[in-house]
Amino acid sequence: TVTVETLLATTWEAAEPYVPKSLYGQALALIAGFPLLAILLNVARQVLLPRDPKLPPEVFHLIPVFGSAASYGNDPIGFFESSRRKYGDCFTFVLLGRKMTVCMGPRGSNLVLGGKLSQVSAEEAYTHLTTPVFGEGVVYDCPNHMLMEQKRFVKFGLSQENFEAYVGMIDEEVTNFLNKDTRFATFQENDPSKWDSFHAFRTLSEITILTASRTLQGKEVRSSLDKTFSQRYLDLDGGFTPINFMFPNLPLPSYRRRDRAQKAMSDFYVDILRKRQAGKSEHDHDMMASLMGQSYKDGTPLSERDIAHILIALLMAGQHTSSATSSWMLLHVAENPDVGEALYQEQVEKFRNADGSWRTMTYDELRKLPVLDSVIRETLRLHPPIHSIIRKVISDIPVPPTLSAPSEDKTYLIPKGHFVMASPAVSQVDPLIWAEPLKWNPARWAESAAQTHYSTYYEAGEKVDFGFGVVSKGTESPYQPFGAGRHRCIGEQFAYLQIGAILATLVRNIEMKLTHPVPEHNYHTMITLPKDPCDIAYRRRTKA
Ligand code: HEM
Repeated sequence: TVTVETLLATTWEAAEPYVPKSLYGQALALIAGFPLLAILLNVARQVLLPRDPKLPPEVFHLIPVFGSAASYGNDPIGFFESSRRKYGDCFTFVLLGRKMTVCMGPRGSNLVLGGKLSQVSAEEAYTHLTTPVFGEGVVYDCPNHMLMEQKRFVKFGLSQENFEAYVGMIDEEVTNFLNKDTRFATFQENDPSKWDSFHAFRTLSEITILTASRTLQGKEVRSSLDKTFSQRYLDLDGGFTPINFMFPNLPLPSYRRRDRAQKAMSDFYVDILRKRQAGKSEHDHDMMASLMGQSYKDGTPLSERDIAHILIALLMAGQHTSSATSSWMLLHVAENPDVGEALYQEQVEKFRNADGSWRTMTYDELRKLPVLDSVIRETLRLHPPIHSIIRKVISDIPVPPTLSAPSEDKTYLIPKGHFVMASPAVSQVDPLIWAEPLKWNPARWAESAAQTHYSTYYEAGEKVDFGFGVVSKGTESPYQPFGAGRHRCIGEQFAYLQIGAILATLVRNIEMKLTHPVPEHNYHTMITLPKDPCDIAYRRRTKA
């Protein structure tokens, strides 16, 4: 007779060598099969299931959750352009589990950048990235109306009067850099026949931080630009990457370094502030001085920490944007010696004294240099540092038919919970708008009335005041390197001044050329940077 025990025993015995193998095999099959199944189900969902006609079309992707992360991450502009051809001006893609709805073209930019406060939120899109770096209580870690007031406070420090003083300071910093930095040893040898080279981005990053700290950030910061400050800055910067944007908190050393650096940087600014309040330090009328003593409309004063965190935010907002722009600009100038020569002649005509020495430009003069201005403008058209502007959708947004699918007269609805994205970078190279859009051609800003119209539209056009002074609305302009609407950049004039003054001092002193093509874009950083090789060959100009 077969008892339960014997049955079990025989089964076990017979099965013994076999059972574990089978289990491992099944487990392996399951592990290997699960992703495959998930991919198949994801594909089937997209191909077979009917899609809610109210939703914008979704970019086809194989891997669930991961979505189009690789295509977007490697080349966002190429990804936007090819998706636009397939799906129209409004489409959704999956980015590591988030639904991103892209709104292309000037109408798309208008929808995102001109979005109502009840529909879109910049705070909810950016705070997890920016608050650990800037610190609490400011920018995206406070209600929008407080950010608008903070922008108004900052604008006090960006006054015409301050700008007048800044031109000379920047000239002095760049001249000192050329005369003292070891990378410019050949320049210092004073032999105009010798060529040497410098790395565009690394060099301009240093010049940018030197000039920004000398002007906006103040004397104490400039004199503290030693190893400790630089290391803190680098640690903070290491927390400002696309990985941090996707994963705000991971148990990784870079996240811990970011948090330590934030605290140290915040204490550093508070310390300067306290010394100033105690009357123990001399300072110019810089940004900290403009922020001290400011109060919100409800009477709440800006706290020391608020001031420290706004200064960190400004440091981060201006550093990569300006250094990337000036690197691209110098690379193009080096590739086009005729433009370099035109820039030089513009300087000679206006600012060279009879004895061959140079006169410092006034801020007003700097703003009225057509060649210099068009070189910066054109560089920002082709290489806007920020390729994606993002907002979180906080209530459903009806998309006008003109943006949805004009031919079919459909109206989409972008649901709450999605993110919306605008990319002025795409409109800025749209062949329907710009002649030879991929060619760097500063002359287009002088020659063509039509092209100039776009910048006029951006800078003139309808005026609005969101709480930080009157600005051009500009949300439908096809040229928006500084964004538009309530989150429009307030550093625009300073950036033009800083980049322009750096360029003027460099062209007065050196001739440049490129020994390789202008580099491709590196989109793996938050700001679009030039890939390596990124070297500029230079030689000292003769006095003649
Ligand atoms: C906002 C670009 C330099 C401070 C922005 C935005 C863009 C931009 C596109 C809009 C972001 C959005 O809507 O989400 C640039 C470029 C620069 C530059 C291309 C240089 C070439 C600066 C500088 C400063 C600065 C030098 C500070 C002195 C700010 C601030 C905001 C902003 C405070 C407002 C953020 C908001 O309201 O949400 N910038 N920026 N930027 N930028 Fe700049």
